[in-house]
Amino acid sequence: MTGEFSWAPDGPNAVIHGDNLPVLRSLPDASFQLIYLDPPFNTGRKQLRQTTKSVRSESGTRIGFKGQTYETVRGVVTSYDDAFEDYWEFLEPRLEEAWRLLDATGTLYLHLDYREVHYAKVLLDALFGRECFLNEIIWAYDYGARSKSRWPSKHDTILVYVKDPRRYHFDSEEVDREPYMAPGLVTPEKVARGKLPTDVWWHTIVSPNGHEKTGYPTQKPLGILRRVIAASSRPGDWVLDFFGGSGTTGAAAMSLGRRFVLVDQNPEAIATMRRRFADADVAFYAG
Ligand SMILES: C[S@@+](CC[C@H](N)C(=O)[O-])C[C@H]1O[C@@H](n2cnc3c(N)ncnc32)[C@H](O)[C@@H]1O
Repeated sequence: MTGEFSWAPDGPNAVIHGDNLPVLRSLPDASFQLIYLDPPFNTGRKQLRQTTKSVRSESGTRIGFKGQTYETVRGVVTSYDDAFEDYWEFLEPRLEEAWRLLDATGTLYLHLDYREVHYAKVLLDALFGRECFLNEIIWAYDYGARSKSRWPSKHDTILVYVKDPRRYHFDSEEVDREPYMAPGLVTPEKVARGKLPTDVWWHTIVSPNGHEKTGYPTQKPLGILRRVIAASSRPGDWVLDFFGGSGTTGAAAMSLGRRFVLVDQNPEAIATMRRRFADADVAFYAG
């Protein structure tokens, strides 16, 4: 471990071992262009209630969905589903910090599964402001058993929110392109260039025996993170992932010339990142 973590714009790429909330509270406002989050779902652990403070906005008070205040919306949504209430009590103060830490042109990507995403959408509309919702990305994959009693679930959802809908950075020219499904119907030039991805991304999971595999159970594919980072940040920008896991966000950021801060409280995640970044210039800290 290096000494105590203290972020600076000209500091090194950093991995911090510890609970993310105190780490987030130590970071200065508007320091990150991009925040990608892939939180665990409902660990079953009752999380301690955090004091809720209102999120700042230019107008002072944040009015969300259908003109309701965030507090009202949260009251309705969380009283509807107890399991989600616990989860949101854990996530909410961290998402408030994410909002504070985003640059004015910055973007949040929140990666969830089909069980929690709909509640989170309503609450994020209220927390960020409905006008700040940019996209719902569907990551579709094809792996594992197929249920015969319902449609097999083979996708995750990534909710995308911007800090300011008038100023956010998004560069589709930087995004990797996809092959046309019917190449015979378009010009050879178009076939050679490929087409821009839509909000539905077909991408394999990390292959259990592929070169990308780190052994960390919830590892996400580099291809997904590279696309996110290429579109919503510029070379040299700072990227934050405070549910860092195996460090996929850092690996993708580094390969695209971005800088990063990753946080994780699990020693296994830190060990995985130490192996993954063994040859890279990355500082490790205790939170
Ligand atoms: C779904 S995994 C992230 C996987 C990651 N996207 C990847 O590609 O490897 C969620 C991570 O959040 C971490 N985590 C959960 N609660 C945390 C907390 N309060 N502070 C820091 N890390 C936390 C877990 O240890 C886990 O590694």
